This record gives sequence, structure tokens and C-alpha cells, in this order.
Amino acid sequence: MGLSITNKILTNHLLEGNLNPGEQVLVSVDQTLGHDLTGIMAAQVLESVKPEKLSTETSVFYCDHNTLAVSSENADDHMYLKTAAEKYGLFFSKPGNGICHFLHCQRFAKPGKIMLGADSHTPTSGALGMLSIGSGGLTVAKSMLGEGFRMTTPKVINIRLTGKLNPGVAAKDIALEALRILTVKGGIGAIIEYTGEGVKTLSVPERATLANMSIELGATTGVFPSDEVTYQFLVAEERAADWVELLPDEDAVYDKVVEIDLNELEPLVARPHMPDLVSKAREVEDVKPNSVFIGSCTNASYSDILKASKILKGHKVHKDIDLTIAPGSKQVLEHLIRDGILADLVESGARILECACGPCIGIGQVPCANGIAVRTSNRNFPGRSGSQSASVYLASPETAAATAITGHITDVRDFMDVAELSDCSEPEAYRIDDSSFIKPGDIENPKDVEVIKGENISDLPMRGALRDRIEAVSVIKLGDNITTDDIIPGGSNILKYIANIPKFAEFTFCYTDPTFVERIKKLDYSVIIGGENYGQGSSREHAAMLPMFFGTEVVFAKSFARIHKENLINYGILPLVFKNKDDYDKIDMDDTFVIEDVLEQADTGEIAVKVPNKGLEFKTLLEVSAYDLRVLKEGGALNYLKNK
Ligand code: F3S
Repeated sequence: MGLSITNKILTNHLLEGNLNPGEQVLVSVDQTLGHDLTGIMAAQVLESVKPEKLSTETSVFYCDHNTLAVSSENADDHMYLKTAAEKYGLFFSKPGNGICHFLHCQRFAKPGKIMLGADSHTPTSGALGMLSIGSGGLTVAKSMLGEGFRMTTPKVINIRLTGKLNPGVAAKDIALEALRILTVKGGIGAIIEYTGEGVKTLSVPERATLANMSIELGATTGVFPSDEVTYQFLVAEERAADWVELLPDEDAVYDKVVEIDLNELEPLVARPHMPDLVSKAREVEDVKPNSVFIGSCTNASYSDILKASKILKGHKVHKDIDLTIAPGSKQVLEHLIRDGILADLVESGARILECACGPCIGIGQVPCANGIAVRTSNRNFPGRSGSQSASVYLASPETAAATAITGHITDVRDFMDVAELSDCSEPEAYRIDDSSFIKPGDIENPKDVEVIKGENISDLPMRGALRDRIEAVSVIKLGDNITTDDIIPGGSNILKYIANIPKFAEFTFCYTDPTFVERIKKLDYSVIIGGENYGQGSSREHAAMLPMFFGTEVVFAKSFARIHKENLINYGILPLVFKNKDDYDKIDMDDTFVIEDVLEQADTGEIAVKVPNKGLEFKTLLEVSAYDLRVLKEGGALNYLKNK
């Protein structure tokens, strides 16, 4: 039986277990990344373990999320990350160098390798044939410390691309079409493998757009073949030596195949507030946004912005629209400047932002109350933009640029002769300047580096070992598809406290339920009740850590998003799935839950829960590996690492 790309890479990295779908395996990890939100956590773990040497080939901390440093809290975080990187042998990417995933594709991603990144959009590097998986900072730190990565063997879904995109239709439209077909849950438990003749027509940055949004499908990651296009990209990045060919066997077997004919695609948009609410751009032409943003790790390549500039050239941004553009990296920005493209953008009325995440995570350009935004980023959940009442539409750079001129959502093919966009390709050779990285070799005596821990860096919260009898009250009952942004929202006024746990915790569920913090503080122990796909979205592990900080011991849900479940385990919270989903309807906020003989029951994988105030008993499943069970029993991964 032929092997998929996924199976080839996993086989080469297998340390424990067998690659049967659903079975737990341990794989080795070659690379890691973290950034100035999630990397702090990884740095705190390194600080508590103080390793002599990292087990990974390449590990990088990027400053790309909270780059504005509008207050000393951000600067504290950056200094902490920089000095920890210098001490423990990581690369450090300075603010302005670029967005982690985008920059990682340019400078580090290697075909055939495995990367673990403390960010949900880590799959972006799958564009180069690398298995790049998002996780929490604690899990990433564990892999740097030689623990590898424990994962459930995924299914492999093949998205087979045929044909070629027509001008005006973009890689983003393929990603949105995949979301329309598969929905935000269609990829759960799977890796998406992109193959077919159509793949050969896509550049590496276009592949990166698709790989990036694999996570929106709920997938573990997405991966492309490493072929001639990959080779040429690596040559252009002066990294030809990093190339190896990696293709699926001709008779590779997949768990599911989805065919998308690129010839048939049209410009699409995702409507508020889910990436899978997909319409044709022409169907929503009456939507008049106040702001348009072109950028993010999804769509900020040279060719993305070149296309936007061709559409904008000779026009002015509509009077009712604020257009902002953030190039993906300093390398892209420099090309745009040297090629005169930036002048065209500025002349049209676009505002050029720093090469950083920025508006994607509500760090600046927060929409007005009830505002409407068109963005080329990957998520449009409520609150993601920094405004709870804003409506965000996701679109390609072409659709976004045309919209910025007309003032309403516009299919670029109705705006101009799109044949003019056909020659918008990537540079044949990129300008290489790695001076905004501090490299491990740059530091003479790493051991002598003092890790600078400013006032904004609190200690990590710890909990004791798992209690054998749990008695706790439900503090909140939630519906389906609750995101980590719902649990702890973005926005610069909130995220600046990410390393200051007591302060950050005050914002838990602050938009979903403003009384949550006040109520949970009155309880010693609590449980949370969720619906399907609980904890989807960002890898933000604080969505697990903050409830743990307040004493949450259990989350009941109909199903969990993969990364969040991993984070709950890392923070010692039992992720229990209703055996009978109807039991969800029988329990409420303020109910008391009692679990007897927790340790013994946990070993069986099935846990009985009593609700004395209702005279009710129901069964739940604890679907975790033997390793995860050990971590849970010790009260979380930090305890586990310290006790080891
Ligand atoms: Fe940054 Fe948004 Fe990507 S926050 S890492 S640009 S999803």
C-alpha cells in the first residue's frame, strides 16, 4: 500500500507506537517556534528546568504579535523572550522582522521535518512539505527538552486540486472553498494533504495560504508535496541545500478525498462570524465595510501585495474606508520599497503598517462599534478583531483591494481587466538579510546571560496532584464551537498582561459572561460545561491555564478541539466527554458535581459523575493516552516535568 506524505514523515520520526489512526504515538521534533504571546510560556518552562542544551535542531522565538510596546508590559515580555533565547540557544527574531509563520517559511522550514509551534497557524510551514503542528507553549517547551510530541495518529484527508486558478481568483478562495465543503469541523482528527496537478500551479506563498487555513478546517495540520516549485523557492531564499523531494506514492491511500477544480472557482468571502460561512463575493456586494486590512500570516506575501497594488494603482481608497496593509516580513517590505510598489500603495491612500500580526489579533486598527471589516486574515470570530460588536468578512487580497476602492464588497473581475494580474509573481531571488535575527552562535557565553524578568512576568500558576474525590460547582454552561478567544479574548489592552497571570485572569470570559470572574472567585473548585468542538481556534493555552488558576478541575464537553484538550491536560484539568450527549441538556450552571475514586476511574477511561442536587448520575469518557493520564494525575505538565 502506497504512503502519503504524512505517513512518510511520521514514519521517519516515530519513537513509540504504531501509526494506526486513533492510536497514540510519540514522534521526534526537529524545529519549534514560539512568539511574544505563547513563547513566554515556553520561556518560563525553560527557566524552571534550565536545560544545558535543547534537543531540537532549530528553535525560534518571534516578536510579532504585541510589537507596539505601547506600555512597558510589552517591552518586559520582549526583553524576557530575548534574554531567554540568548541563554538557552534559540534564534530570536526582533520586532519588525516579520510574522512568525510567514518568516519561518522563508528562513527555516525544511521538507520532511516535523515542527511544533506554540501557535495554531503553525501549519503554514506545511507549504514546504514539513509537518508543522500547532500546540501550547508548554508542549512546545517539552519537545525542546527532548520529550518529543505525543499525538493521536491522524487520519489523512486528501484535497486534490485540478486545473488552474483564473486571474482574479486566489489561493484564499481555494481555502474558503475547502471550508465551504468541509466546514470548521471537517478536518478534526486529520491531516490535510494537498495533491494533484493543480498544486504545481501554486507558488510556495500560495501554498502557505492554504496550509495556514488548514487549522480553520479543524485539522491537525496541512501539508504539500516538496517538488520543483519548493526547490525554486528555496533557491530564491538561498536555501537550496535544505531541499529534498517529498511526494506521495502514486497509490497512496487516503481516508477521504475532496476534489477541487481550480478552473471553476470564483472569488469567495467568509461571512461573520465563522470562516466556513462562505458566499461568492458577488452575493454580498451590498456589504459596505468601514475598514479593509490586507496582511496576516495568511496573505501578506510579495505577490499578494503586488496584486493589491495593481488593483489600487490609479485609484483612491473610498472615502468611507480605512485601508491598512501589513507586509508579512521585512524581506517582503524591502522588495516592495525597492520595486516602487510601496509608493503606489501610499499614493492610493493605503496606510502601511509594521510587518507584524497587528489587526489580525486586535493589536491596533480595532473596528468601530458595530463596524464592518474586510480582512485577508484567517479568522472572523466575535472579539477576534478586538471589538465584540464588529462583523469581519474574510477575503483574498484581490477582493479586499477592489473593495477598498468601491466601498462595497467587490468581485475584482467586475472592477478591472484581471488579465493585468497574471504577471504578479514572486521575485526570482529574494534579498537575504538575517540581521534582525539574533542567532544562537552570536552569543559568546550563553550561560552568563541573565534572563531579565520584568514586573509584568508573574510566576506560572501550579496546582496540586489530581484529587481522588472531586466536588465542584459548574460556573458556566456554554454552547457549541466556543473558541479560545471567547475564553480569553485578544486586544492589546488585554494581551499586554499575558505574562502577568493574576491580571490576565481578570479578563477570562469577559465578553461572553462579564460576571464570570466575580462568580468563579467565590468558588474553591469549579467545572465548566461546553458543547461540541470546545476550545476551537487559537492555541492560546491561557484558555486552559486561567480556569485552572481559578480552581477549575473539570471541563465537560460534547467534544474538544485538539489543541485545547492538550492544553487542559497540561494544566491538570480533566477533559471529560459526555458518553451520552443528551446528558448535556440535563445539567446546568450552579449544579454540584461529585466524582468519587477519580484516580481509579481515570484508569478505566470511563468516569461516573453524580449531580446530587438533581439526583442524577451520568457517564463521561476520559480519552487520553497513558502518558497524558500520568500528567493529569500529577496535576499538569509543569508538575510532571519538575518531578521527573
Ligand atoms: Fe499573527 Fe494572526 Fe497569524 S495573530 S500568527 S497573523 S493568525
